[in-house]
Amino acid sequence: MRLPGPSPFGVLRYFPEARRGLLAPLEAIVRDWGDVVRIPFPGDPVYFFRSPEHIRSFLQENDGHYRRSYDDLKRFMGDGLITSDGSSWRKQRKVIAPMFHGPVVAGFFEQMTEESERLANRLKTTADSSGKISFDVEEEMLDVTLRIVTRCLISNDLDATGRRISELMTLMMEHIVARLRSPWRIPFTWPTPGLRRFERALRELDQVIYRLIDARVEAWKSRSESDGRDLLDLLLASKDAETGEPLSRKMVRDEVVTFILAGHETTAHALTWALDLLASHPAEAQRLQTELRHVDLRSASTLMKLPVLNQVYREALRLYPPVWYIERVSTQAHQIGEYDIPEGVRVAVSPYLTHRDPKLWKNPDSFDPSRFDGSTERQSEIPESRWAWIPYGAGPRSCVGQPMAVMQFQTVVARLLQEFTLETEGGKEKGDASRINPLITIRPRKPIRLILTPK
Ligand code: HEM
Repeated sequence: MRLPGPSPFGVLRYFPEARRGLLAPLEAIVRDWGDVVRIPFPGDPVYFFRSPEHIRSFLQENDGHYRRSYDDLKRFMGDGLITSDGSSWRKQRKVIAPMFHGPVVAGFFEQMTEESERLANRLKTTADSSGKISFDVEEEMLDVTLRIVTRCLISNDLDATGRRISELMTLMMEHIVARLRSPWRIPFTWPTPGLRRFERALRELDQVIYRLIDARVEAWKSRSESDGRDLLDLLLASKDAETGEPLSRKMVRDEVVTFILAGHETTAHALTWALDLLASHPAEAQRLQTELRHVDLRSASTLMKLPVLNQVYREALRLYPPVWYIERVSTQAHQIGEYDIPEGVRVAVSPYLTHRDPKLWKNPDSFDPSRFDGSTERQSEIPESRWAWIPYGAGPRSCVGQPMAVMQFQTVVARLLQEFTLETEGGKEKGDASRINPLITIRPRKPIRLILTPK
């Protein structure tokens, strides 16, 4: 069966919305056409699905019929886990998945706690004469998550090197994002000033990362087995499951860049929106603060079992899933449900739109963490399908770093809410889609400033 959808002419009426990014037009198209829609972008249609059963068919059952469409990201992430496909991806996933299993991630708890404490202490030094601290929440969350991920990856080698890596990555992402937003796909071979800056940053990034790798290989010669292990150690120690060979220097470089990029921006934006939600819902912030009052934040096992914190986490990621849009290109004709998918077309789902589907969620736009309290009264409000809550994607290519993301989220939110009260600066603007800048992750369109008061 063919997918319904607007004609190439009819789709033009959604274009005025497109200046705010793809989210607003997509929301409007789904509102008008429903859960299954073919969007006829000129020469390159998108086959879009919103319902859990189609998401399962797309990301789980038919995973083998797709390849990634991240050609731009490949320019600097190389062939790491996110950008690779087929047998190369399968081999990498086998090697990398164990690095993010519970016990390994638990080993990073101390670094996360220290960085959250460091953030709280530094913010306190910026208080004004009345004791209030006004801060740009996205900026601070990007900083703390970058510090955490670089410490987990390269432990003590941080500071100047970590900061330079971050600057270079930001430069390159700006170029990629400018390309994604531009209506013209300028070929990567055209030497525009933006591309030249990108290439220069890429060369320097490679030098910095290869220097780190080589220094670590050298340091290993004089290390004892009992020395601490970070993710770079684990990468260098890992072996190809079939050949038993260690990962090549280039593969280690590609995974390092992948971990930094994937593990930093996503968690930072999950935290940004969660803190914004708590600041604008004082009763919910209060409920969480009551739970945190006597909790020892240095105990990972306690922190990971706090019910209200967990509800806030699930609800914040429902309302603002940082990866708001997931797309693949079909490599052979097949069906999703009864719908025909030809070879070579783009197929997509949006965690954001599924998480706000009123057929699945009661009051989908409200921040109501208690909907996840597991009580019998509220159980009926949670969709039965586990494919209705998909901030980490789903199926074989779901997020490998989820346990690390959860721990980072809990550690930072718990620390800030235990030490400070939180409020918005100048009230909250209405209308979510207009506050969101939907790039690879959903970012705030304008800086969100919040106010903390030490307790
Ligand atoms: C709240 C934080 C995070 C969110 C919302 C998130 C979300 C996602 C999503 C939706 C995907 C699947 C994308 C797709 O199917 O195209 C993904 C994949 C991935 N994520 Fe995350 N992520 C987060 C944190 C992390 C962290 C902390 C790391 C590691 C340091 C990480 C590493 C990866 C990798 C390597 C993949 C590719 C997996 C594969 O293709 O096999 N992510 N993530």
